[in-house]
Amino acid sequence: MTPGGDDARAPRVVVGVGGGIAAYKACGLIRLLTESGCHVDVVPTQAALEFVGTATFEALSGNPVTTGVFSDVPSVRHVALGQRADLVVVAPATADLLARAASGRADDLLTSTLLTARCPVLLAPAMHTEMWEHPATRRNVGTLRGDGLHVMPPASGRLTGADTGAGRLPEPADIARLAHLLLDGGRMPWDLHGEHVVVTAGGTREDVDPVRFLGNRSSGKQGYAIAAVAAARGARVTLVTSADLPTPAAVEAVPIESARELRDETLRLAEGADVVIKAAAVADFRPADVAGSKLKKGSSTEPESIGLTVNPDILAELVDARTAGRVPADCLLVGFAAETGDASGTVLEHGRAKLARKGCDLLVVNEVGRGTTFGEDVNGGWILDTAGGEVLLDRVSKDLVASRVLDAVVAASGSATTGRRGAHHTD
Ligand code: CTP
Repeated sequence: MTPGGDDARAPRVVVGVGGGIAAYKACGLIRLLTESGCHVDVVPTQAALEFVGTATFEALSGNPVTTGVFSDVPSVRHVALGQRADLVVVAPATADLLARAASGRADDLLTSTLLTARCPVLLAPAMHTEMWEHPATRRNVGTLRGDGLHVMPPASGRLTGADTGAGRLPEPADIARLAHLLLDGGRMPWDLHGEHVVVTAGGTREDVDPVRFLGNRSSGKQGYAIAAVAAARGARVTLVTSADLPTPAAVEAVPIESARELRDETLRLAEGADVVIKAAAVADFRPADVAGSKLKKGSSTEPESIGLTVNPDILAELVDARTAGRVPADCLLVGFAAETGDASGTVLEHGRAKLARKGCDLLVVNEVGRGTTFGEDVNGGWILDTAGGEVLLDRVSKDLVASRVLDAVVAASGSATTGRRGAHHTD
């Protein structure tokens, strides 16, 4: 796909760029969007052009770039861009831009576009921590979320100069992922704020000796997608993971390797969690003996076979811990199951039986094969609940699966409208 998105069916995305040092990262975002087939119109503020020039934005997007409302007046660009867009993404959204957007100003092409847009709007803030935490910015962010705009939580880390803290622009890949989710019709309301969501991801590794392990094909992509989308919906997210993928913005990663490490961390975190989502593929067995030094062929250490012993069933332990009161009674437990149909039942029948057997509240059943599940970007299957309800996942992106799983979590916990734990804030 060439920049410019000549295809009339290409999704039309307006990328707004605010005047902050992170404006250079907008270039990576524009590239990701054009490469995935979007028609991109870049609308920088005048201040953004102090950081990145018009030529760069025009070359990357393949479309002309203007900042003011008095350029190209006959085409009524200040109205047309917003009206025609399928999505508006602003990266970086500076404190000043958030303030102007929150008060409904229309003093340049970007704020005019924000006022005329009727499509989803995604704002990726970037500023110094003091600015992000200032009551005025908190108020503006609350207003924008109340108006239905999506304001991503900023990442934490290195800022301009020597400072570190909350206020870093999320990585272009994180912003692009949420942009595509919105283009695909995924929901991203700010409905998990105040909730602590623990997500497990990746396959476990069970040591055979210091250099070898038994593992599985789980890539961790589904768990990471859930973590990213839960954070974008306001949750405090802890990701217990063995996968080697970039940690999504505003997510805390806890690295683990074996099933027993995963068990210890998950049970510890579950004691203070509102939701535990077990997307990890846990090894059911591990080597009964782990060699202290490398097993060598042709030597006295060469094994004839590797004896296995059963690993703990972490989901079963979580259910027991909840019954015993060590995990909060209203902590929602979500299991995953990768299934194939066989002579004894269909994928769905196996899923239903597993939901009953495991004792969790929701089970996401993935159908293995047909280009879905392990390592792929799409997934297929069902979300099952204990009342007999099911949501079909028909070969959709793992981000859209994440959005549907979180919708099911919110529906099951009743937190969307009633504020299950009185946890509704604006920031
Ligand atoms: N699980 C777990 N601990 C294990 C095995 C599985 O917590 N030792 C969790 C997984 O993270 C997943 C769910 O249980 O959320 C279902 O995993 P699955 O491997 O399908 O379940 P099993 O009980 O091992 O069933 P099967 O015999 O079909 O493999």
